[in-house]
Amino acid sequence: MDNQNSVPVADRRGDGSRMEESRNGLSRRQALGAISWAALAAGMTANPALAAPKRAGKPSDAAKKAFVDDLIKRMTVDEKIGQLRLISIGPEMPHAKLMDEVAAGRIAGSFNTVIRRDNRPLQEAAVKRSRLKIPLFFAYDVVHGHRTTFPIPLGLASSFDMAVIERMARVSAVEACNDGVDMTFAPMVDIGHDPRWGRTSEGFGEDPYLVSECARASVRGFQGTSPDKPDTIMAAVKHFALYGAVEGGRDYNTVDMSPLRMRQTYLPPYKAAIDAGAGGVMVALNSINGVPATSNTWLLQDLLRKEWGFKGVTVSDHGAITELTRHGVARDNREAAKLSIKAGIDLSMADQVYLAELPGLIASGEIKMAEIDACVREVLGAKYDMGLFADPFLRMGKPEDDPVDVKADSRLNRQPAREIARETIVLLENRNQTLPLKKQGTIALIGPLADSGLDILGSWSAQGVPEQAVTLRAGLEAAIEGKARLVTARGSNVIDDQKVVEYLNFLNWDKPEVIQDPRSIEAMIEEAVSVASQADVVIAAVGELRGMSHESSSRVSIDMPGSQRRLLQALKATGKPLVVVLMNGRPLAIGWEKDNADALLETWYTGTEGGNAIADVLFGDHNPSAKLPISFPRSVGQIPTYYNALRIGRPYTEGKPGNYTSQYFEEAQGPLYPFGFGLSYSRFALKDLKLSATRLKRGEKLSAEATLTNEGSHEGANVVQLYIADPYASIARPVKELKGFQKVTLKPGESRVVRFEIGEDELKFINGELKEVVENGRFDVQLGLDSHDVLVQSFELV
Ligand code: NOJ
Repeated sequence: MDNQNSVPVADRRGDGSRMEESRNGLSRRQALGAISWAALAAGMTANPALAAPKRAGKPSDAAKKAFVDDLIKRMTVDEKIGQLRLISIGPEMPHAKLMDEVAAGRIAGSFNTVIRRDNRPLQEAAVKRSRLKIPLFFAYDVVHGHRTTFPIPLGLASSFDMAVIERMARVSAVEACNDGVDMTFAPMVDIGHDPRWGRTSEGFGEDPYLVSECARASVRGFQGTSPDKPDTIMAAVKHFALYGAVEGGRDYNTVDMSPLRMRQTYLPPYKAAIDAGAGGVMVALNSINGVPATSNTWLLQDLLRKEWGFKGVTVSDHGAITELTRHGVARDNREAAKLSIKAGIDLSMADQVYLAELPGLIASGEIKMAEIDACVREVLGAKYDMGLFADPFLRMGKPEDDPVDVKADSRLNRQPAREIARETIVLLENRNQTLPLKKQGTIALIGPLADSGLDILGSWSAQGVPEQAVTLRAGLEAAIEGKARLVTARGSNVIDDQKVVEYLNFLNWDKPEVIQDPRSIEAMIEEAVSVASQADVVIAAVGELRGMSHESSSRVSIDMPGSQRRLLQALKATGKPLVVVLMNGRPLAIGWEKDNADALLETWYTGTEGGNAIADVLFGDHNPSAKLPISFPRSVGQIPTYYNALRIGRPYTEGKPGNYTSQYFEEAQGPLYPFGFGLSYSRFALKDLKLSATRLKRGEKLSAEATLTNEGSHEGANVVQLYIADPYASIARPVKELKGFQKVTLKPGESRVVRFEIGEDELKFINGELKEVVENGRFDVQLGLDSHDVLVQSFELV
């Protein structure tokens, strides 16, 4: 090993401020215990012989290939295996060991190291001490923000505004770059049909068209014009594939699905992200029809590489290679490594199996060097694409520019966070124009989520700091300062079951996530009622703790947790107008709230500026326009409930007896709130659907238009949604499918004609032979302001 240029590395773990950074930012699950080393001397550069040319334009594929091929020729077997390892620092990989591993050329990249002062010494070990000086890359879960936390993806999708999602990703990318991060494990585009699944919160909802749009917008935002810029990061779309369909909504469970459904519903969003240029793909933990994704040659070779033409890097999920033994498809770790390499897992995440087993497999000839080289080529190619060979410190800059206080408020993007968050809040009910509220009189703010800086950040809050989050209480106080009085009470805990509290507190290493109020349910409700009685209006902030809508947080029920419903009922009984502000990461069964709240807002988890954004909506400084990206079932028994279900032989018909039709006889049919639903403070009318033709020839287009009028007295926006139904085809088709949407802002009294073009792209589907086809016949064009209440006109494709 050529250690001539090596730099002595001081182990100075224990820098207080940066240790705190680690504690606040990282969870037990992330298993980091992020390193905290003092910055080393500046002035490192990569080995010039290795450096890719600094370039004005984008280098050609040929230049990249030549560069990577040359490097591979010079690598030893051990160095190649090293380039297949993505490692998180943690108890098993303390910083001193990691530094040595990097210097020995045994690590391709690290994840969960998120500050420049931590990343720089690692990069220096790679480019000064390792024999070939191949740079590391740094990855992180920048899912809905980095320093600034934006709303959870389910909220972002509610905006039905791709500029909002692109902006979130762009701002997050810049913040991540400023911390020396090169790659994000995002977007997460798993379709969600089962709200028991906690990771529903991380996805963009139930609809393949909407989720695909969100996927594209995210990649555009993260990667900008190219992932090799100092202000862009590479997007690794996840979790490939079908993770959202885990049976029973139980995380990590099996997925069994027809190829038709895969292609019709679940696969399009991954493809959309890849077509948008995502440089990476993270492979799912689940099996698909009996074969784990991690060892699934059909998935990773035939579909991803051959059919879709993906040219980037694949990454296993955390520990997924060794888990092949638990899936029962690998006898031991040796076989697990072999299956994964052969399937095409380039990078193993947090897994020792490649390191331990690949040398023996290569020596025995069970794995050919060409198979190893194919994986190494993708890893080096990704580093090349991230600009790291041209400049390993591209995103880290110089030590003298490192932020003194990594958590300084000045590093946050509060304005974009507030503007984005208010676009994600869905108004579900507004009786008697309860909202917007006036900034006057006495307002009671009640509820266990009213003042929680942690919960409002949501599931993947990255480096978001709870103390920097604007809670609803803080947002309301700022909004009414000097104009109205705020009185508060906690009212209840979110959950009352101590076992659940303990489960959720496992999420963090060193400080409990959930702090329970020790008082009795009755005492808390009594206090809340007395506080509410003094007020002109009551705002109740209820829902789920953020840990309840998270990885490994599947619920057996989607009811309002704990005694919160009792609290709401007691507040309702005071006779005061009741505004329910929901904070949750999945659809909840909120029938009582629908019927009894005077106003009902679904705010999801709104992020760092959440409290201000919710206050903007409550007081009418922002008119809500968001729509549900996922159907709300009435009860857990109705799962799955999604609007684009296939036609069946005995459908339930509204208004007719249900006997011998497909329905549940104890409950009203259909969702509580349909996909695409959301109100405004204005009243909007959509009228006069017209088609430009009633016959469409192949290769041509027709247009569908309708007039949207703002009949209310507030300026506002609404989302006009285009659905198409194909009532007769060679296979049963969905009752309707979203094919377009436009968000339109109108002044009071203003009207606008909204037009959509329809051609074969909107009519094609996957047939029984898994081929994309367009079949002649009738199509029903539906335009609406949600998926249920639509105008319909038909045309014939000839
Ligand atoms: C496991 C999760 O499934 C995945 O989404 C995440 O990116 C990795 N851990 C890394 O944190």
